[in-house]
Amino acid sequence: MSAPHTRQLLAGMVGGGSGADIGKTHRHAMRLDGLFDLRAGVFGRDPLQSAVLAGGLGVPADRVYRDYRDMAEAESGRADAVDVVVVATPNDSHFEIARTFLEAGISVVCEKPLTSDSATAAELVRVAAANGVVLAVPHCYSAYAMVRQAARMVRDGRLGNITFVDVEHASGWAASPLEQLGHKQAAWRTDPDVAGFPSVVGDLGTHAFHLLRYITGLEAERLSGRLRSLVPGRRVFDHATVELQLTGEVPARLWASMAATGNNHGLRIRVFGDQGSLAWEHEDPHHLRVQDLDGTTTILTEGLSTLSEDASRLTRVGLGHPEGFLEAFANFYRDLAGELRARRDGTLPATRELSFPTGEDGLAGVRFVEAVAASHHHDAAWAVPAGATQKAQV
Ligand SMILES: NC(=O)c1ccc[n+]([C@@H]2O[C@H](COP(=O)([O-])OP(=O)(O)OC[C@H]3O[C@@H](n4cnc5c(N)ncnc54)[C@H](O)[C@@H]3O)[C@@H](O)[C@H]2O)c1
Repeated sequence: MSAPHTRQLLAGMVGGGSGADIGKTHRHAMRLDGLFDLRAGVFGRDPLQSAVLAGGLGVPADRVYRDYRDMAEAESGRADAVDVVVVATPNDSHFEIARTFLEAGISVVCEKPLTSDSATAAELVRVAAANGVVLAVPHCYSAYAMVRQAARMVRDGRLGNITFVDVEHASGWAASPLEQLGHKQAAWRTDPDVAGFPSVVGDLGTHAFHLLRYITGLEAERLSGRLRSLVPGRRVFDHATVELQLTGEVPARLWASMAATGNNHGLRIRVFGDQGSLAWEHEDPHHLRVQDLDGTTTILTEGLSTLSEDASRLTRVGLGHPEGFLEAFANFYRDLAGELRARRDGTLPATRELSFPTGEDGLAGVRFVEAVAASHHHDAAWAVPAGATQKAQV
């Protein structure tokens, strides 16, 4: 048996240029477990900005390409070709870009909605299979540990037979006409030629729909949808209400909106069965609420030792630490990098009142420990940590 490869997977990216939204999230995510090394890309439409961004990301200059076609041709010819390419461009370009890489024998992570019609989406599925490569779509809400737990519980029959599903991705991010104010993401999302006329359904509805399918394992047999534009003058629909009939005639309701005034991200799902129900929402992602027939409510928390393997294998932080813990660590390193870079480059570091803790803070901590111990040994008498200036006694 040959030894397994131990090298990192090599990744490329198309899109995710300076100021772009989701590309940087992909980059952060790929770095988290150190499994991927970003080695190639076309980081936006502007070649100069793409090169500058790539330099900062450590992507070698000879692997920053003018466009995705050049990239697919050059990469597929290399011995150290990228293993996967992330397509993080606006919707109308997904098909051509993804197909180009799949045909070149390179796996693709393509942003949602996969393409703007099902014929082209099916074509991508076919091309991926024909070339023996992976085509993945980052409906990443299904990767939350507690969503996996919910899906496992439904499959294990914890809720009994599913009777109703209610899901919504109703955000308030575009409840005003942002597209008229030069907002970059709003501009293309409200352009029917780029986002498609039922824009909100592709943009947010596909996430809600995937979450519903993922947790329940049920498919939509038929549906009835109503589309509206709540923001006057908008050229695409920004509000959708959909009634569905799922496998086994299970009824469901889906609401997608980018004009749900005041709502933040607004993604949540409730699944009802004849033995119990569950509820999960993105703004409190590490809790899953489960309710029994008699109304007994149990809150499951990420990190509990009793969770399914599907959930526990995705948990990097211990019980009591929310997902934000990893971001707090990342923020520590961001501040530290600012200081280290300034020293390396001989420039002045940003002076911030609030930045990373230094050795002085570490020292203060040790003195604190000593003072607590000393106090304890003296029947909890007042103790002054070394270095502290004691307040004058009056
Ligand atoms: N999975 C999610 O949760 C999620 C979240 C946000 C956006 N998205 C999807 O990600 C995609 C991008 O959205 P966004 O908000 O980041 O858009 P954006 O407008 O912020 O960024 C798009 C980037 O693609 C670049 N680009 C466009 N055409 C290109 C080309 N031919 N070659 C190279 N670069 C090109 C632009 O220059 C820009 O840098 C969309 O399909 C959107 O639906 C998914």
